[in-house]
Amino acid sequence: MHARPEISVAPMEGVTTFPMRLWLQMIAQPRAMTSPFLRVTRAFPDDALPESFIPELTLLRGALPYGLIPQFITGEPEQFLRAAEFIPDAIAPVIELNCGCPSPNSLGRMAGSGMLREPEFFARSLEKLAAELGPGRLAVKMRLGIEADAEFPALLDAVRSLPLARLTVHARTRADGYRGHARWEAVQKAAGATRTPVLASGDVWGLASFEKLKATAPDIQGVMIGRGLLRNPWIFRELDSGEPTRMDGHSFILALFCYALLQEIFLRDPGRLYQKVAKGRLGFACGIDFAAWEKVTVELTTLVFGVPFLLLPKSGLGTRTLSPVAFSRLRFLWSYLRSSLPEPYAAPALMRCKKAEDFFEALGTQLEETDHAPLDIGHQESWDPHFAGQRG
Ligand SMILES: Cc1cc2nc3c(=O)[nH]c(=O)nc-3n(C[C@H](O)[C@H](O)[C@H](O)COP(=O)(O)O)c2cc1C
Repeated sequence: MHARPEISVAPMEGVTTFPMRLWLQMIAQPRAMTSPFLRVTRAFPDDALPESFIPELTLLRGALPYGLIPQFITGEPEQFLRAAEFIPDAIAPVIELNCGCPSPNSLGRMAGSGMLREPEFFARSLEKLAAELGPGRLAVKMRLGIEADAEFPALLDAVRSLPLARLTVHARTRADGYRGHARWEAVQKAAGATRTPVLASGDVWGLASFEKLKATAPDIQGVMIGRGLLRNPWIFRELDSGEPTRMDGHSFILALFCYALLQEIFLRDPGRLYQKVAKGRLGFACGIDFAAWEKVTVELTTLVFGVPFLLLPKSGLGTRTLSPVAFSRLRFLWSYLRSSLPEPYAAPALMRCKKAEDFFEALGTQLEETDHAPLDIGHQESWDPHFAGQRG
């Protein structure tokens, strides 16, 4: 049994991009993250990786404390190797192959979960990659199979003796999508069958499920948190400290505001965001600390609005606004996060807001109405059916 599995941020395409990763660093300092996949083809990338893919490892090397593993998706090992040449060993000692994406597009190209269609193809591809990349450089993230759990043993046989850096098992099949519960027993079987460090992905929502996972799969070395970090971004703090999170409402509002501001500046002018991070002015721990969120808010509002602006619950954004895209990203987060908050915050009225200024005004009013009572943030099982099967 491992003392304590490492808890990391799962890759989520379109979600755990750089602004989210930076925000999570402010929220709870997860020590490790995996990038969402970059789809590599014969034509792409042609002479460099996109700047926004893994800035932490390139432009911002050393500026942020967490480790980041880049992930690629492709059904062609040659293309994986070609793209890997753009990331020297010293920058990314480990690169991951996505063998789980359930989209029809991926399946059709034998990529993502399509890699799992034929155990021989899976084995041949991984052998080639492991041999070319050298021991300990290839990581694999996979599902249990395409249609049925019964496919897993043969697939596991294909990887168990390869010199992988790690094997992450999202313990569902492609046919499951995101429905039903992840089969943690299968992850335990994998951990028992190989010397490769095995990580579990799926259905960790808070302390209770984390404890259950550890009991079911005592030999895993790590756990990835995916949708659980959307429902409760402070989950890493909760799992680290063993205590649920309670924070004051104004800090909570500033934290959400900072998330929207990070999305805004990343859309408008990522270079300026990178500069601030490189200077050490962003990316420090804020957790539940009001003064720290205030400091970050000043930095980010200066970037976005040209002047520092501290959002007060009573007066909201005033005459300021955010772009519809940045606001839609905040709304996406909110659609999950509200499930971990006290009842009045979950009300549909907040979900219905069409503009950032309306949203923050409604949130401020809510806080005023509850007399600034502190917020308890934690998993509420009653919401689980609402998210069953949801990819986002
Ligand atoms: C919106 C979304 C995007 C995802 N994108 C990726 C991805 O880029 N690469 C990957 O390996 N898995 C991806 N996944 C799968 C997650 O990493 C994770 O394995 C899965 O959601 C189960 O974990 P969870 O129950 O903690 O969410 C994605 C999942 C979601 C919900």
